[in-house]
Amino acid sequence: MRIGIIGTGHMADALGGQWAAAGHDVLVGGRDRGRADALARRIGHGARAGGVGDAARHGEVVLLAVPYAGVGDALRRAGAASGALAGRVLVDCVNPIGPGFTVAGGARSAAEEAAQAAPGAHVVKAFNLCPDGVWRMRPPVGGDRPLGVPLCGDDAGALAAVRRLVTDIGCVPMDAGPLARAGVLEATAAFVIGMVATGMDPTAALPPLALAGTPVPQGE
Ligand SMILES: NC(=O)c1ccc[n+]([C@@H]2O[C@H](COP(=O)([O-])OP(=O)(O)OC[C@H]3O[C@@H](n4cnc5c(N)ncnc54)[C@H](OP(=O)(O)O)[C@@H]3O)[C@@H](O)[C@H]2O)c1
Repeated sequence: MRIGIIGTGHMADALGGQWAAAGHDVLVGGRDRGRADALARRIGHGARAGGVGDAARHGEVVLLAVPYAGVGDALRRAGAASGALAGRVLVDCVNPIGPGFTVAGGARSAAEEAAQAAPGAHVVKAFNLCPDGVWRMRPPVGGDRPLGVPLCGDDAGALAAVRRLVTDIGCVPMDAGPLARAGVLEATAAFVIGMVATGMDPTAALPPLALAGTPVPQGE
């Protein structure tokens, strides 16, 4: 698959490295060409470097890996407003974490904001729940079992592409509903990061499936 990555930081490094090693055609695009060049060299496996617009043009799938505060500007640099990402899969791993581990932003999730800023793109929220150190593991694991990766999106083809990118790195895709539920994943990240920051294990708050009870039907 042709994968463009917007951003040259930790998540670009971790996921770009995984996907390039799995045989995908990766182009990392940054606003600082020197950093993009250095990252492409570190990733290896034929990875190339370019600008933000190059990443958008290159990717059938484009990973958005910039801080929440930079999303609007990064998408502008990508030419998203004029349709540069239309028809492409935009994977959003952004966590809008505010002061005190709250969820930053307005009424909509960061993923829905990205979708509005990138008309025609098929946005899928994914890869936001674990730190980059986990995404660098080969394969990433969650304790003694394969790592699940929840996905929220509306387009069946885009979800299928991202499921493949999840399984290609040895993880298990978990369908978590439409893009309208992406805010749930973003709030979960705020919970997880807040717990970890205060030395607590967030998974200790969650029951195993056998004890999780019977789900209440939607709307009740
Ligand atoms: N790190 C994690 O463990 C982790 C885990 C899950 C999700 N996330 C989310 O993933 C996203 C990226 O995190 P990260 O840790 O990779 O961040 P990072 O290491 O700080 O890297 C951020 C990258 O975004 C670029 N950037 C910032 N503003 C930009 C703009 N306006 N236009 C273009 N590029 C811009 C930076 O470019 P410059 O080098 O030019 O500044 C840098 O390459 C964040 O939203 C974060 O919440 C992170």
